[in-house]
Amino acid sequence: MSISLFPVGLRACLLLASFLGGVCAAAALPDTALQPDLVEQGRLIYVEGRLASGAALQATRNSGAALSGRDAACTNCHRASGMGSVEGQARVPPISQRYLFGQADDLVMANVDGRRGKTLNRGLSGYTEATLGHLLQDGISPAGRQVSDVMPHFTLQPSELQALRSYLQQLSSEYSPGVGKDVIRFATVITPEVSEARRSVFKSMLQSALASKNSSTAPRKRHMAAAASFATQTERHWDVQVWELSGSADTWGAQLNAHYAATPVFALLSGLSDSNWAPVDAFCRSQALPCWFPSVALATAGDAQYGLYFSRGVALEADVLASYLADAAPVRQMVQVVSADNAAARAAATELRQAWLPKGHALQDVALSADPAQALVSLRKALQATHAGDAVALWLSPAQWPLLEMLTPPQGVQFYASSTLGQDAAWSTVPAAWQPVLHGIYPYQLPQERAANLAYLHAWLKLRNIPLVDEVLQSELFFSLNLMTDTLQDMLDNLYRDYLMERTEDMLGKRESAKAWQESRDRQTLGRLGRVAVKSESLSGTAVPDALNAEGAQRRAFGVGISEGTTIYPHLTLGPGQRYASRGAYIVRLAPGPAHTLEAISDWIVP
Ligand code: HEC
Repeated sequence: MSISLFPVGLRACLLLASFLGGVCAAAALPDTALQPDLVEQGRLIYVEGRLASGAALQATRNSGAALSGRDAACTNCHRASGMGSVEGQARVPPISQRYLFGQADDLVMANVDGRRGKTLNRGLSGYTEATLGHLLQDGISPAGRQVSDVMPHFTLQPSELQALRSYLQQLSSEYSPGVGKDVIRFATVITPEVSEARRSVFKSMLQSALASKNSSTAPRKRHMAAAASFATQTERHWDVQVWELSGSADTWGAQLNAHYAATPVFALLSGLSDSNWAPVDAFCRSQALPCWFPSVALATAGDAQYGLYFSRGVALEADVLASYLADAAPVRQMVQVVSADNAAARAAATELRQAWLPKGHALQDVALSADPAQALVSLRKALQATHAGDAVALWLSPAQWPLLEMLTPPQGVQFYASSTLGQDAAWSTVPAAWQPVLHGIYPYQLPQERAANLAYLHAWLKLRNIPLVDEVLQSELFFSLNLMTDTLQDMLDNLYRDYLMERTEDMLGKRESAKAWQESRDRQTLGRLGRVAVKSESLSGTAVPDALNAEGAQRRAFGVGISEGTTIYPHLTLGPGQRYASRGAYIVRLAPGPAHTLEAISDWIVP
C-alpha cells in the first residue's frame, strides 16, 4: 500500500529567489571521474586515520599535543557524512563536496549548531588541492583566515593529499536514494504476527499524520517553514510505503529487497513488530538504510549499525531483571517460561541465561507452545514444580497472558513479567490472585507520571478521532514521525542518510529537553487541551537556544516540576555511535486494590 496524497506544485525557490537575492540552482554535481583507488586511499585517511603506506595519520595542535591514527581521522569531527558537528564550544563546518568545491552560485546551507538557532553554514568556496594542503598544514583558509586550533595540523605527502581531495570530492555529493527533487520516500515495515488492532491504529495514525504533513507543505501553506528551508527547497512531499511482511522470517529479507528494488526509500520510518526484527535490521545494514525508531519488542540480535531504537526491548528487560535480582533476596532457582514461537521471547531468555548462569545460580527453561491447551498444560506443570524462594520470569506473548487466569500462583514464588512482550495493556487485566506475586519489568515512565509527557499525543489523537489502543505503540509512532519532521527540517537540503543518523545522535537529547520544556510552558500558558491540540499541529523546529538549555537545567536543579521527555520514556538521548535512546527500566508491581495501579519497587535500573 502506498499513501500518497498531494503532489507539491510550485517550488518555494521560484517564489523566494528574488527575495533572497540568491540563486536556487539544484545541487550542481560534478561528473566524478574520480579514480576508485584514490578515493579508497582518501577514505582510509578520512575515516580510519591510516595512510596508503599503512602508517597512522599524524596530527598536531598549536599547543604541541599530538594525535595519531583513528584519533586524528577527519570523521571524528567532520563526521562520516562530512556535514560537520559541534565539538564542545567549537563548530566543525561541513566539508563535503558541495561545501568545499561547490559552484559559487550553488546555494548550500547547513545549520550545524542547533543550539544557536538558525546560524547557517555556507559553502567554503575556493578550495583546490593546493589550498586544502595549505589549510591542513598551516591552518590558513583560502580566504587567508587562521582557523581555530581545534582543527589540527596535518602534513601529507602530495599523493596522500590527492587521495584525500578525491575522497572529499565525492563525499555527500548526491542525495541519498529515496530523495527526489520534490518528494522524499520512506517505508514502514510491519511483521506478520502483529495483531489487527495494533496494525490498524498504527496505519490510521500514519495516514493522518501524513495527510497533515503533506497539506502543510502544499504551496499555500508554506508559511510554517523557515526562510532557509524555503530557499533550499527542503519542504518535500512525503511518500510512505507500508511494507507488510508475510510468511516465515527467513523469507523477509527477500521480500524487503524486492520492495526496495521497486521503490528505493531514504529511511524506514517507524515500524511494528512483536517478535523478530533482526531480519529487518539486517536489511537496513545491507542497504546502509536508517531504520528509524520502530516499535519493536526486540531491536536486533546484532550491532544495529543503521538502526536507531527506543531501547533494547526485551534484552534490556532481561538484563534489568538479572541486575535487580542480584541485589534482592537470594533466589533459590530461576525458572523462565518462554513463548516458544516468539523470537523476542527466546532472545530474552537467552539474555537472562547469560546474565544469570555466570553468577552460579540455577536456571531452568520451560517452553510454551503456541497452542493454548498445550501451553496451559506446560505452564501448570512448571508452576507445580516450583518451590518457595524461586523466581519465575514470564516471557509471554500477549495471547498467553489469559493463561494466568486459569491457574493459581504457588506460595512463596515471585513472578516477573515482560512489559514489552505482553504489551502495556495487559497490566490492567491481571487476575486478582496474581496481583500480589506478579511483578513487571517496566522500561517506560510509570503511567501516573507520564500524563504530562503525553498530553500532546492525547490531544492530537482526540482531534483526529483516533482511539487510544496502545499508549506505548502510539507514543512511539507519534515521536518517530515528529522527530523525522523536525530532523529533516534541520537538515535543510543536505539529505544524506549518514547525516540523518549523526544529526539525531547529536540533537536527540537536546531536542527532548527543549520540547519537554516548550510543552510544559504551552500547557501553562495555553491551558486548555483544545488549544494545545491546535499548537500541536504546528510543532516544528528544534533550535535549542542556549538560554533555554540553561533555564531548563536551572529549573531541574531547583526541582521545579517539568517533564523531561515527550514520550512514554522518561528521557531519550543518544551520543555518537549510540543506537538505543532509553537504557533502563523499573521493577514494578500492582498496588493492592482494584485500580490496577503500577508502582515502582526499584529505582530506574540501568544495567
Ligand atoms: C579534532 C577535530 C577535527 C579534526 C580531527 C579535523 N578537523 Fe577540520 N575543522 C575542525 C574545526 C573545529 C574547524 C573549524 C575551524 C574554524 O573555522 O576556525 C575545521 C575546519 C576545517 C576546514 C574548513 C576551514 C575553512 O574555514 O575554510 C576544512 C577544509 C577541514 N577542517 C578539513 C579537515 C580534514 C580534511 C581533516 C582530516 C584530515 C580534518 N579537518 C580533521 C575540526 C577538526
